[in-house]
Amino acid sequence: MDTLKALLKKAGPFLTAIFLALTTLSVGNNLFIKKAPDVRLTAALISDTHVGDAFYRQLSLPPGLRDISRRVKPDVLVLAGDCTDNGNEANWTTLQTLFQKNADVPNTILAVGNHDCWTSYDGEKVYDEAKANFLQYGGAIMGETPDDVFFLREIGGYSFLVLGSEAASTDCVMTDRQLSWLEATLAAAAEKADGKPVFVINHQPMNFTHAVGADEGGNGFDSQQTSDRLQAILDRCPNVIYISGHQHYPLSLDAADNDVGFVTVERVGQHITSVNLPCYGYGTFLEGGTSVFGHGLVMYVFDDHVQFKGRNFFLSNWSRDFDVSVPVESVDS
Ligand SMILES: [Fe+2]
Repeated sequence: MDTLKALLKKAGPFLTAIFLALTTLSVGNNLFIKKAPDVRLTAALISDTHVGDAFYRQLSLPPGLRDISRRVKPDVLVLAGDCTDNGNEANWTTLQTLFQKNADVPNTILAVGNHDCWTSYDGEKVYDEAKANFLQYGGAIMGETPDDVFFLREIGGYSFLVLGSEAASTDCVMTDRQLSWLEATLAAAAEKADGKPVFVINHQPMNFTHAVGADEGGNGFDSQQTSDRLQAILDRCPNVIYISGHQHYPLSLDAADNDVGFVTVERVGQHITSVNLPCYGYGTFLEGGTSVFGHGLVMYVFDDHVQFKGRNFFLSNWSRDFDVSVPVESVDS
């Protein structure tokens, strides 16, 4: 008995620390996620991890990947571009290792961002080498090498059309080849979907959405004409959900709450739901916004609506204020 008492005395502070840690975490409802039984598809949506030389960004990603894999347990993990900081082999090797060690999800989709479209920020910006790196290393992370930066994935009965810039510039450049592919592929996907949502992922938001075009709003597409053409193609189909990043804005529910006029989930045109993801890699810096890294969204797809819940994957915390649902439009089949 004396031995046991001595042991408890020694281990007491350690056990107390474990108890407090578990209590603190579970009070936040962070460890266990109960999924509604009628969820048809779950997706973890992150963007702008900017993995590169900055060590804290390499440190910020593993806890988030583990939270996604162990707690969110999505059907698909989407990383909507700026996966790396400079698209070179060293950056991609680091990202691939982080995924290999920490991610365990059935499907992963990566999109190319402007920072993945060059291999050096200060030097000459060359697209072809960066694209080759995305296809090779991004393809390895996805488990399937795409033919180009735009491609189709079918997951759980839903179509994901991934788009990507075709030039080494901050703005998105899309050729006729990509827009024609999108037009044909989306039409086929929408017909197959028969009213279910179709997901389109592209790093840059369309112009004049999510504060693109506002003074503080950063860039979207290189030309208004391309952005308009993209919007027109998307708007022909019901229930298109367009997912972007790039802006590095915090989660926002109400345009009136900020001075640049955006919300994270916006209606664009007649049918498009446009979703702009916060920056995972180095936080979101906007007056009044949060500056903590690790933010993203969990998307739950139901038959009649799609729910977006804010989550800090790094902290395993729900962003409690952010819970937005959009109805699935009914279509006459
Ligand atoms: Fe970015």
